[in-house]
Amino acid sequence: MAKKLKIGLFGFGCVGQGLYHVLNNSTGFKADIIKIGVKDKTKKRIVPAEFITYDKSEILNDPEIDVIVELIDDAEEAFKIVSEALKKGKHVVTANKKMLALHLEELYDLQQKNNVSLLYEASSCGSIPIIRSLEEYFDNEELEKVTGIFNGTTNYILTKTISEKLSYQVALKQAQEKGFAESDPTNDVEGFDAKFKSVIIALHAFGLIIKANDVLNIGITTLHENDIKYASEKGYKIKLTPIIQRLPNNQVSAFVIPRFIKENNQLFNVDNEFNGVIVEGKFSGEQFLQGRGAGSYPTGAAVLSDISALSHGYKYEFKKHVQKHADGFTNNVIVEVYLRYNSEGDLKKIEFEEISEKYTGKEYHFIVGKVNLQTLINEKEYILKNDLFISLVNDKVSLNANKENLKITKEKELVNK
Ligand code: HSE
Repeated sequence: MAKKLKIGLFGFGCVGQGLYHVLNNSTGFKADIIKIGVKDKTKKRIVPAEFITYDKSEILNDPEIDVIVELIDDAEEAFKIVSEALKKGKHVVTANKKMLALHLEELYDLQQKNNVSLLYEASSCGSIPIIRSLEEYFDNEELEKVTGIFNGTTNYILTKTISEKLSYQVALKQAQEKGFAESDPTNDVEGFDAKFKSVIIALHAFGLIIKANDVLNIGITTLHENDIKYASEKGYKIKLTPIIQRLPNNQVSAFVIPRFIKENNQLFNVDNEFNGVIVEGKFSGEQFLQGRGAGSYPTGAAVLSDISALSHGYKYEFKKHVQKHADGFTNNVIVEVYLRYNSEGDLKKIEFEEISEKYTGKEYHFIVGKVNLQTLINEKEYILKNDLFISLVNDKVSLNANKENLKITKEKELVNK
Protein backbone atom coordinates (compact mmCIF):
# COMPACT_ATOMS: atom_id res chain seq x y z
CA MET A 1 0.00 0.00 0.00
CA ALA A 2 1.14 3.52 -0.73
CA LYS A 3 2.79 5.31 2.16
CA LYS A 4 1.56 8.80 3.09
CA LEU A 5 4.75 10.78 2.72
CA LYS A 6 5.93 13.68 4.81
CA ILE A 7 7.58 16.32 2.68
CA GLY A 8 10.18 18.95 3.40
CA LEU A 9 9.96 21.45 0.56
CA PHE A 10 12.77 23.78 -0.48
CA GLY A 11 11.68 26.76 -2.57
CA PHE A 12 8.25 28.31 -2.85
CA GLY A 13 8.40 30.12 -6.18
CA CYS A 14 6.61 29.32 -9.40
CA VAL A 15 7.01 25.52 -9.26
CA GLY A 16 6.81 25.26 -5.45
CA GLN A 17 3.47 27.04 -5.42
CA GLY A 18 2.38 24.98 -8.43
CA LEU A 19 3.08 21.81 -6.45
CA TYR A 20 1.24 23.21 -3.42
CA HIS A 21 -1.78 23.92 -5.63
CA VAL A 22 -1.88 20.56 -7.41
CA LEU A 23 -1.29 18.66 -4.17
CA ASN A 24 -4.12 20.49 -2.43
CA ASN A 25 -6.44 20.00 -5.37
CA SER A 26 -5.70 16.36 -6.10
CA THR A 27 -8.48 13.97 -5.25
CA GLY A 28 -6.66 10.67 -5.09
CA PHE A 29 -3.14 11.20 -3.85
CA LYS A 30 -2.36 12.77 -0.48
CA ALA A 31 0.94 13.80 1.10
CA ASP A 32 1.78 16.28 3.84
CA ILE A 33 4.10 19.22 3.38
CA ILE A 34 5.60 19.57 6.86
CA LYS A 35 7.95 22.51 6.31
CA ILE A 36 8.90 24.89 3.51
CA GLY A 37 12.41 26.30 3.38
CA VAL A 38 12.75 29.70 1.72
CA LYS A 39 15.42 32.40 1.45
CA ASP A 40 13.64 35.74 1.20
CA LYS A 41 12.33 36.93 4.58
CA THR A 42 10.55 39.94 3.07
CA LYS A 43 8.22 38.02 0.75
CA LYS A 44 4.60 37.48 1.75
CA ARG A 45 3.70 33.76 1.69
CA ILE A 46 0.35 32.13 0.98
CA VAL A 47 0.90 29.54 3.70
CA PRO A 48 0.76 30.04 7.50
CA ALA A 49 4.05 31.26 9.00
CA GLU A 50 4.60 28.05 11.02
CA PHE A 51 5.22 26.17 7.77
CA ILE A 52 8.06 28.47 6.76
CA THR A 53 11.68 28.19 7.82
CA TYR A 54 14.81 30.06 6.78
CA ASP A 55 17.08 27.41 8.27
CA LYS A 56 17.70 24.45 5.98
CA SER A 57 18.91 22.21 8.80
CA GLU A 58 15.46 22.42 10.36
CA ILE A 59 14.21 20.42 7.37
CA LEU A 60 17.23 18.25 6.67
CA ASN A 61 17.54 17.16 10.32
CA ASP A 62 13.85 16.51 10.88
CA PRO A 63 13.53 12.71 11.28
CA GLU A 64 9.80 12.93 10.55
CA ILE A 65 10.49 14.13 6.99
CA ASP A 66 11.12 11.28 4.58
CA VAL A 67 11.14 13.16 1.28
CA ILE A 68 12.94 16.35 0.32
CA VAL A 69 11.41 18.20 -2.60
CA GLU A 70 13.97 20.64 -3.96
CA LEU A 71 12.57 23.47 -6.08
CA ILE A 72 14.96 26.36 -5.55
CA ASP A 73 16.61 28.49 -8.16
CA ASP A 74 20.27 28.37 -7.19
CA ALA A 75 21.87 25.22 -8.66
CA GLU A 76 24.87 25.13 -6.34
CA GLU A 77 22.84 25.65 -3.17
CA ALA A 78 20.40 23.02 -4.50
CA PHE A 79 23.28 20.59 -4.93
CA LYS A 80 24.33 21.11 -1.30
CA ILE A 81 20.79 20.49 -0.09
CA VAL A 82 20.19 17.47 -2.31
CA SER A 83 23.51 15.78 -1.59
CA GLU A 84 23.10 16.30 2.15
CA ALA A 85 19.58 14.89 2.00
CA LEU A 86 20.72 11.81 0.06
CA LYS A 87 23.56 11.24 2.52
CA LYS A 88 21.05 11.40 5.36
CA GLY A 89 19.03 8.65 3.68
CA LYS A 90 16.16 10.86 2.56
CA HIS A 91 14.56 10.44 -0.84
CA VAL A 92 14.67 13.50 -3.08
CA VAL A 93 12.46 14.88 -5.82
CA THR A 94 13.89 17.79 -7.78
CA ALA A 95 13.11 19.87 -10.85
CA ASN A 96 16.54 21.46 -11.00
CA LYS A 97 17.92 20.58 -14.43
CA LYS A 98 21.01 22.75 -14.10
CA MET A 99 22.01 21.10 -10.83
CA LEU A 100 21.34 17.63 -12.22
CA ALA A 101 23.23 18.20 -15.47
CA LEU A 102 26.24 19.75 -13.75
CA HIS A 103 26.46 17.10 -11.01
CA LEU A 104 24.94 14.07 -12.69
CA GLU A 105 27.73 11.65 -11.92
CA GLU A 106 28.01 12.65 -8.24
CA LEU A 107 24.24 12.50 -7.79
CA TYR A 108 24.02 9.13 -9.52
CA ASP A 109 26.71 7.80 -7.17
CA LEU A 110 25.10 9.33 -4.07
CA GLN A 111 21.67 7.81 -4.67
CA GLN A 112 23.26 4.42 -5.39
CA LYS A 113 25.57 4.51 -2.39
CA ASN A 114 22.89 5.60 0.07
CA ASN A 115 20.24 3.38 -1.47
CA VAL A 116 17.72 6.20 -1.73
CA SER A 117 15.58 7.42 -4.58
CA LEU A 118 16.32 10.58 -6.55
CA LEU A 119 13.53 11.42 -9.00
CA TYR A 120 13.41 14.34 -11.43
CA GLU A 121 10.65 14.03 -14.00
CA ALA A 122 9.88 17.76 -13.71
CA SER A 123 13.41 18.70 -14.68
CA SER A 124 12.93 17.82 -18.32
CA CYS A 125 10.14 19.03 -20.59
CA GLY A 126 7.65 20.00 -17.85
CA SER A 127 4.67 17.70 -17.70
CA ILE A 128 5.81 15.35 -20.51
CA PRO A 129 6.64 12.03 -18.81
CA ILE A 130 9.83 11.59 -20.79
CA ILE A 131 12.16 10.31 -18.04
CA ARG A 132 9.68 7.73 -16.80
CA SER A 133 8.92 6.63 -20.40
CA LEU A 134 12.61 6.16 -21.10
CA GLU A 135 13.19 4.41 -17.76
CA GLU A 136 10.20 2.11 -17.83
CA TYR A 137 9.02 1.60 -21.39
CA PHE A 138 12.21 2.06 -23.38
CA ASP A 139 14.41 0.46 -20.72
CA ASN A 140 15.37 -2.39 -23.03
CA GLU A 141 15.14 -1.09 -26.57
CA GLU A 142 18.17 0.41 -28.22
CA LEU A 143 17.33 3.98 -29.15
CA GLU A 144 18.62 5.73 -32.25
CA LYS A 145 17.67 9.30 -31.58
CA VAL A 146 15.92 11.62 -29.15
CA THR A 147 15.08 15.07 -30.36
CA GLY A 148 12.39 17.67 -29.84
CA ILE A 149 11.66 21.00 -28.27
CA PHE A 150 12.92 20.97 -24.69
CA ASN A 151 12.57 24.66 -23.78
CA GLY A 152 9.23 26.42 -23.43
CA THR A 153 10.54 29.98 -23.25
CA THR A 154 12.39 29.95 -26.58
CA ASN A 155 9.49 28.17 -28.24
CA TYR A 156 7.16 30.83 -26.85
CA ILE A 157 9.42 33.62 -28.10
CA LEU A 158 9.84 32.04 -31.56
CA THR A 159 6.08 31.53 -31.87
CA LYS A 160 5.18 35.03 -30.75
CA THR A 161 7.85 36.88 -32.74
CA ILE A 162 7.53 34.94 -35.99
CA SER A 163 3.83 34.05 -36.22
CA GLU A 164 2.38 36.92 -34.21
CA LYS A 165 4.99 39.59 -34.97
CA LEU A 166 5.55 40.59 -31.35
CA SER A 167 8.93 42.11 -30.57
CA TYR A 168 11.56 39.87 -28.98
CA GLN A 169 11.54 41.94 -25.79
CA VAL A 170 7.75 41.82 -25.41
CA ALA A 171 7.67 38.06 -26.07
CA LEU A 172 10.43 37.44 -23.53
CA LYS A 173 8.67 39.62 -20.96
CA GLN A 174 5.47 37.64 -21.45
CA ALA A 175 7.36 34.37 -21.03
CA GLN A 176 8.79 35.74 -17.77
CA GLU A 177 5.41 36.97 -16.51
CA LYS A 178 3.82 33.61 -17.28
CA GLY A 179 6.48 31.86 -15.22
CA PHE A 180 8.08 30.01 -18.16
CA ALA A 181 11.50 31.67 -18.20
CA GLU A 182 14.42 30.99 -15.88
CA SER A 183 15.22 33.78 -13.42
CA ASP A 184 18.20 34.46 -15.68
CA PRO A 185 16.60 33.99 -19.13
CA THR A 186 20.06 33.75 -20.75
CA ASN A 187 19.78 30.10 -19.77
CA ASP A 188 16.75 29.78 -22.02
CA VAL A 189 17.63 31.93 -25.02
CA GLU A 190 21.24 30.78 -25.31
CA GLY A 191 20.21 27.13 -25.19
CA PHE A 192 21.75 26.21 -21.82
CA ASP A 193 18.46 25.03 -20.36
CA ALA A 194 17.78 22.75 -23.35
CA LYS A 195 21.33 21.45 -23.06
CA PHE A 196 20.92 20.59 -19.36
CA LYS A 197 17.75 18.68 -20.20
CA SER A 198 19.55 16.89 -23.04
CA VAL A 199 22.25 15.73 -20.64
CA ILE A 200 19.61 14.31 -18.29
CA ILE A 201 17.64 12.66 -21.10
CA ALA A 202 20.83 11.16 -22.58
CA LEU A 203 21.43 9.24 -19.36
CA HIS A 204 18.04 7.54 -19.52
CA ALA A 205 17.90 7.14 -23.31
CA PHE A 206 21.46 6.00 -23.97
CA GLY A 207 22.91 5.27 -20.52
CA LEU A 208 25.60 7.93 -20.85
CA ILE A 209 26.66 10.51 -18.33
CA ILE A 210 27.69 13.33 -20.65
CA LYS A 211 29.51 16.41 -19.38
CA ALA A 212 27.37 19.48 -19.99
CA ASN A 213 30.50 21.39 -21.02
CA ASP A 214 31.07 18.99 -23.91
CA VAL A 215 27.67 19.70 -25.41
CA LEU A 216 27.39 22.59 -27.85
CA ASN A 217 24.54 24.99 -27.23
CA ILE A 218 23.73 27.77 -29.66
CA GLY A 219 20.50 29.61 -28.96
CA ILE A 220 18.26 32.09 -30.70
CA THR A 221 19.87 35.40 -29.69
CA THR A 222 21.28 36.19 -33.16
CA LEU A 223 18.12 35.40 -35.12
CA HIS A 224 17.41 38.20 -37.62
CA GLU A 225 14.47 39.22 -39.78
CA ASN A 226 16.31 37.88 -42.86
CA ASP A 227 16.64 34.41 -41.34
CA ILE A 228 12.92 34.43 -40.58
CA LYS A 229 12.24 35.55 -44.15
CA TYR A 230 14.41 32.76 -45.56
CA ALA A 231 12.64 30.16 -43.41
CA SER A 232 9.15 31.51 -44.11
CA GLU A 233 9.71 31.57 -47.88
CA LYS A 234 10.53 27.89 -47.74
CA GLY A 235 7.56 27.18 -45.46
CA TYR A 236 9.75 26.31 -42.46
CA LYS A 237 9.34 27.21 -38.82
CA ILE A 238 12.38 27.84 -36.65
CA LYS A 239 12.61 25.84 -33.43
CA LEU A 240 15.37 25.24 -30.92
CA THR A 241 15.79 21.48 -31.12
CA PRO A 242 18.38 19.47 -29.24
CA ILE A 243 19.47 16.30 -31.03
CA ILE A 244 20.84 13.29 -29.17
CA GLN A 245 21.89 10.70 -31.73
CA ARG A 246 23.41 7.23 -31.68
CA LEU A 247 26.00 6.85 -34.44
CA PRO A 248 26.97 3.74 -36.40
CA ASN A 249 30.05 3.26 -34.18
CA ASN A 250 27.73 3.16 -31.13
CA GLN A 251 28.95 6.52 -29.82
CA VAL A 252 26.42 9.24 -29.07
CA SER A 253 26.49 12.87 -30.06
CA ALA A 254 24.38 15.63 -28.55
CA PHE A 255 24.00 19.34 -29.28
CA VAL A 256 21.50 22.18 -29.16
CA ILE A 257 21.17 24.36 -32.27
CA PRO A 258 18.12 26.05 -33.84
CA ARG A 259 16.58 24.07 -36.69
CA PHE A 260 14.34 24.75 -39.68
CA ILE A 261 11.31 22.53 -39.28
CA LYS A 262 9.21 21.41 -42.22
CA GLU A 263 5.43 21.16 -42.10
CA ASN A 264 5.47 17.36 -42.16
CA ASN A 265 7.52 17.22 -38.93
CA GLN A 266 5.68 16.49 -35.69
CA LEU A 267 7.40 19.48 -34.08
CA PHE A 268 5.99 21.94 -36.63
CA ASN A 269 2.79 22.49 -34.67
CA VAL A 270 4.38 22.46 -31.22
CA ASP A 271 4.05 26.16 -30.44
CA ASN A 272 4.13 28.59 -27.53
CA GLU A 273 5.39 27.05 -24.27
CA PHE A 274 4.62 23.53 -25.42
CA ASN A 275 7.43 21.00 -25.71
CA GLY A 276 7.61 17.95 -27.90
CA VAL A 277 9.87 14.93 -27.72
CA ILE A 278 10.49 12.47 -30.54
CA VAL A 279 11.98 9.17 -29.42
CA GLU A 280 13.23 6.94 -32.19
CA GLY A 281 13.72 3.28 -31.31
CA LYS A 282 15.56 0.62 -33.27
CA PHE A 283 12.43 -1.51 -33.56
CA SER A 284 9.57 0.69 -32.42
CA GLY A 285 10.33 3.55 -34.80
CA GLU A 286 9.24 7.08 -33.97
CA GLN A 287 7.19 8.01 -30.91
CA PHE A 288 6.03 11.56 -30.30
CA LEU A 289 5.13 13.07 -26.94
CA GLN A 290 3.77 16.59 -26.54
CA GLY A 291 2.86 18.63 -23.49
CA ARG A 292 3.38 21.81 -21.53
CA GLY A 293 7.10 22.29 -21.15
CA ALA A 294 6.97 25.05 -18.57
CA GLY A 295 4.64 26.73 -16.13
CA SER A 296 3.62 26.46 -12.50
CA TYR A 297 0.88 23.80 -12.56
CA PRO A 298 2.22 21.48 -15.31
CA THR A 299 5.64 21.39 -13.64
CA GLY A 300 4.02 21.06 -10.21
CA ALA A 301 2.03 18.10 -11.59
CA ALA A 302 5.26 16.42 -12.74
CA VAL A 303 6.77 16.91 -9.26
CA LEU A 304 3.64 15.44 -7.69
CA SER A 305 3.82 12.44 -10.00
CA ASP A 306 7.33 11.74 -8.68
CA ILE A 307 6.15 12.11 -5.08
CA SER A 308 3.33 9.70 -5.81
CA ALA A 309 5.79 7.24 -7.41
CA LEU A 310 7.95 7.52 -4.29
CA SER A 311 5.03 6.59 -2.11
CA HIS A 312 5.09 3.26 -3.96
CA GLY A 313 8.84 2.89 -3.41
CA TYR A 314 9.83 3.84 -6.96
CA LYS A 315 13.50 4.31 -7.87
CA TYR A 316 15.20 4.73 -11.25
CA GLU A 317 17.16 1.65 -12.25
CA PHE A 318 19.38 3.33 -14.90
CA LYS A 319 19.44 0.01 -16.78
CA LYS A 320 21.03 1.46 -19.89
CA HIS A 321 23.82 2.98 -17.84
CA VAL A 322 24.41 -0.24 -15.96
CA GLN A 323 24.33 -2.25 -19.20
CA LYS A 324 26.52 0.28 -21.04
CA HIS A 325 24.22 0.80 -24.00
CA ALA A 326 26.56 3.21 -25.79
CA ASP A 327 30.30 3.54 -26.29
CA GLY A 328 30.83 7.11 -25.18
CA PHE A 329 30.26 10.59 -26.50
CA THR A 330 31.60 12.30 -29.61
CA ASN A 331 31.43 15.69 -31.28
CA ASN A 332 33.18 14.44 -34.39
CA VAL A 333 30.07 14.49 -36.55
CA ILE A 334 28.85 16.27 -39.63
CA VAL A 335 25.66 18.31 -39.61
CA GLU A 336 23.93 20.28 -42.34
CA VAL A 337 23.34 23.94 -41.55
CA TYR A 338 22.26 27.32 -42.83
CA LEU A 339 24.69 30.05 -41.81
CA ARG A 340 23.96 33.75 -42.23
CA TYR A 341 27.32 35.46 -42.44
CA ASN A 342 28.77 38.91 -42.98
CA SER A 343 31.97 38.48 -44.94
CA GLU A 344 34.14 35.90 -46.70
CA GLY A 345 36.34 36.10 -43.61
CA ASP A 346 33.55 34.42 -41.65
CA LEU A 347 33.67 31.46 -44.05
CA LYS A 348 37.41 31.13 -43.54
CA LYS A 349 36.69 30.74 -39.82
CA ILE A 350 33.72 28.45 -40.25
CA GLU A 351 34.97 26.12 -42.91
CA PHE A 352 32.33 23.98 -44.62
CA GLU A 353 32.98 20.42 -45.75
CA GLU A 354 30.46 20.69 -48.55
CA ILE A 355 28.35 23.57 -49.82
CA SER A 356 24.93 23.06 -51.39
CA GLU A 357 23.78 26.67 -51.63
CA LYS A 358 25.43 30.05 -51.35
CA TYR A 359 23.76 33.42 -51.58
CA THR A 360 25.46 36.79 -51.57
CA GLY A 361 22.85 39.52 -51.50
CA LYS A 362 22.67 43.22 -50.83
CA GLU A 363 21.18 42.81 -47.39
CA TYR A 364 22.67 39.56 -46.24
CA HIS A 365 24.59 36.45 -47.21
CA PHE A 366 23.99 32.85 -46.39
CA ILE A 367 25.48 29.49 -47.06
CA VAL A 368 23.91 26.04 -46.69
CA GLY A 369 26.08 23.00 -46.40
CA LYS A 370 27.78 20.39 -44.30
CA VAL A 371 30.03 21.35 -41.43
CA ASN A 372 31.87 19.49 -38.72
CA LEU A 373 30.21 20.03 -35.35
CA GLN A 374 33.68 20.52 -33.86
CA THR A 375 34.15 23.57 -36.12
CA LEU A 376 30.98 25.09 -34.68
CA ILE A 377 32.18 24.33 -31.15
CA ASN A 378 35.54 25.97 -31.86
CA GLU A 379 33.89 29.03 -33.40
CA LYS A 380 30.88 29.41 -31.12
CA GLU A 381 32.14 32.63 -29.56
CA TYR A 382 33.00 34.01 -33.01
CA ILE A 383 29.50 33.18 -34.30
CA LEU A 384 27.82 34.93 -31.39
CA LYS A 385 30.19 37.90 -31.23
CA ASN A 386 29.78 38.60 -34.93
CA ASP A 387 26.03 38.18 -34.81
CA LEU A 388 25.95 35.29 -37.29
CA PHE A 389 22.94 32.97 -37.21
CA ILE A 390 23.15 29.26 -37.56
CA SER A 391 20.34 26.78 -38.01
CA LEU A 392 20.26 23.09 -38.82
CA VAL A 393 18.42 22.38 -42.06
CA ASN A 394 17.53 18.82 -41.05
CA ASP A 395 18.06 16.39 -38.17
CA LYS A 396 20.73 14.30 -39.90
CA VAL A 397 23.90 13.64 -37.95
CA SER A 398 26.65 11.54 -39.51
CA LEU A 399 30.02 10.38 -38.34
CA ASN A 400 32.88 12.40 -39.74
CA ALA A 401 34.50 9.47 -41.51
CA ASN A 402 35.67 10.58 -44.96
CA LYS A 403 36.62 14.17 -45.22
CA GLU A 404 35.56 15.20 -48.69
CA ASN A 405 37.00 18.16 -50.52
CA LEU A 406 35.06 21.35 -50.48
CA LYS A 407 32.44 20.99 -53.16
CA ILE A 408 30.12 23.70 -54.35
CA THR A 409 27.14 22.05 -55.95
CA LYS A 410 25.02 25.12 -56.39
CA GLU A 411 25.98 28.72 -56.07
CA LYS A 412 23.77 31.72 -56.33
CA GLU A 413 25.46 35.07 -56.58
CA LEU A 414 23.22 38.07 -56.50
CA VAL A 415 24.85 41.30 -57.55
CA ASN A 416 23.83 44.28 -55.47
CA LYS A 417 20.92 45.85 -57.24
N1 HSE B 1 12.66 27.88 -18.43
C1 HSE B 1 12.24 26.56 -18.70
C2 HSE B 1 11.56 26.54 -20.05
C3 HSE B 1 11.31 26.11 -17.63
O1 HSE B 1 11.23 27.60 -20.56
O2 HSE B 1 11.39 25.47 -20.62
C4 HSE B 1 10.96 24.65 -17.68
O3 HSE B 1 12.07 23.84 -17.48
